[in-house]
Amino acid sequence: METRRPELSARLSAVAEWVPPGARAADIGTDHGFLPVWLMLCGSAERVIATDLRPEPLSRAVKTAERYGLGDRIEFRLCDGLSGILPEEADTVIIAGMGGETIASILEAASWTREGKRLILQPMSKLPDLRGWLAGAGYAISREKLVRERGKIRTILLAGGGKTPPMTPARLAAGFSRPEAGEPGLPEEYLAELSRKTERALLGLARSGKPEDAGRAEQYRQVLEGLAELKKEWSICRR
Ligand SMILES: C[S@@+](CC[C@H](N)C(=O)[O-])C[C@H]1O[C@@H](n2cnc3c(N)ncnc32)[C@H](O)[C@@H]1O
Repeated sequence: METRRPELSARLSAVAEWVPPGARAADIGTDHGFLPVWLMLCGSAERVIATDLRPEPLSRAVKTAERYGLGDRIEFRLCDGLSGILPEEADTVIIAGMGGETIASILEAASWTREGKRLILQPMSKLPDLRGWLAGAGYAISREKLVRERGKIRTILLAGGGKTPPMTPARLAAGFSRPEAGEPGLPEEYLAELSRKTERALLGLARSGKPEDAGRAEQYRQVLEGLAELKKEWSICRR
């Protein structure tokens, strides 16, 4: 049996930090199972249910748990999203390492996640779409955090049921408020990266010259202007 503590990546460590003591957590799309093991051994989760859509990743998670002597303390379920979990079984739902659209579709199929649950979401793509979907579907993001992992900046969202004020395209792209970050300057770097991506997309649209792209180009210009405003706002927040 493994005697060392499991090591989490920077991304999963940041996710774990938001799991409160005594949580009854559900880790959706667990794959390797390191997060549930860490939460039971090093965090103070009371219970963890680990799910995956596919048998192979779930059996990887079972093996990880057995290696750490936790095979009978973590519950494993083969299911799509939250379909195999009852609302009363979890107060903290973690969905990490998936695309923003998949995260939205998992939540859409489990409307109970709007009712008093703590949602820790770590999308790998389509952040603006996910923020917009959450706002329109009756969720509110209360905190955002940035981490750097293998040279990429990743975002973690803390959300729950609630209302979101109207959002500009730039806030959908970058977040509602200055994110927390373990590393100084990361929020500014994130904004600069988003601006560069938006500029590249604008350039591509200008080259295509298709009349139907004019509307999208205008949207990207608004995002760029908004990002410049956010840069000023976030630097004021830091003082
Ligand atoms: C890239 S891994 C992420 C693993 C881990 N959560 C992390 O963040 O490191 C994505 C996992 O989610 C699973 N998955 C994808 N769609 C899912 C769904 N609808 N329900 C449950 N699991 C899903 C995949 O099978 C895969 O094991």
